[in-house]
Amino acid sequence: IDGTPEWAAEVKRLAREQDATILAHNYQLPEIQDIADHVGDSLALSRIAAEATEGTIVFCGVHFMAETAKILSPTKTVLIPDARAGCSLADSITADELRAWKADNPGAMVVSYVNTTAEVKALTGICCTSSNAVEVVASIDPDVPVLFLPDQFLGAHVKRLTKRENMQIWAGECHVHAGINGDELTEQARTHPDADLFVHPECGCATSALYLAGEGHYPADRVKILSTGGMIDAARDTNARQVLVATEIGMLHQLRKAAPDVDFQAVNDRASCKYMKMITPAALLRCLIEGKDEVHVDPETAALASKSVQRMIEIGT
Ligand code: 13P
Ligand code: SF4
Repeated sequence: IDGTPEWAAEVKRLAREQDATILAHNYQLPEIQDIADHVGDSLALSRIAAEATEGTIVFCGVHFMAETAKILSPTKTVLIPDARAGCSLADSITADELRAWKADNPGAMVVSYVNTTAEVKALTGICCTSSNAVEVVASIDPDVPVLFLPDQFLGAHVKRLTKRENMQIWAGECHVHAGINGDELTEQARTHPDADLFVHPECGCATSALYLAGEGHYPADRVKILSTGGMIDAARDTNARQVLVATEIGMLHQLRKAAPDVDFQAVNDRASCKYMKMITPAALLRCLIEGKDEVHVDPETAALASKSVQRMIEIGT
């Protein structure tokens, strides 16, 4: 019955019975997005998790997102339909690697992207998401050196906008976004000269997009570097008839719902995150029936991590 109206009714019934709210990230499968109580980007979902009044949060996204919800709402039960849904970016730095980096840079402020493990967050000064990374770094005393991790492309974007020289960037990347390359983007932009270009800052091609605009190959006001939530706001505002989208392809579903008259096309239609897609309709149903997989964060780690995550949800709109 996966994805059918019977499936949807059963998921809703079980969620109500268990006092559960269902949150879904913008990269989830369309059926999952459509059944969720809230769909959004990492920052919006963290804020919703922090304020949820239900006893259980079912997080349809990847593991670090569910972990962040648990850190913000430690007394609630947090479930993820498949705990194997990891993230290649979160895997690109370990707590030991961060300890060593901090030891080499005493006095530096650590800014960690939310795509990190709870152990890394516990060693962090402020977390950020792609929605508020620029504001988070701008909020730090300009004389204090910054260690930004783990995404090199988001880091480069933040450095470009804040013009901050005393900022070191970890060399991590997301395999999905790094795979959307500059050549593909340049070719698409060349063949769709009137389209808007929405680019997630985790993309390896963000620099190429800005280069195209800077060199006059593309109108600068048509190139937008945005979080997934920012893309939905921009979709509602655009006057373009076509938009080229450089991010994970799950994003197209909410964009098409937000602006049905606009033609949204993926820059790379193979950019699918296998971890996000582990949350299938069957997995969600099983999660509600069996109460699994439950997300636990060691209380000492959670207490330390909650300071950096709390600062994250307070900064930016
Ligand atoms: P957003 O914060 O833009 O939703 O980014 C998410 C992301 O890449 C999660 O994988
Ligand atoms: Fe992680 Fe990339 Fe998947 Fe996002 S798209 S969850 S950053 S692997």
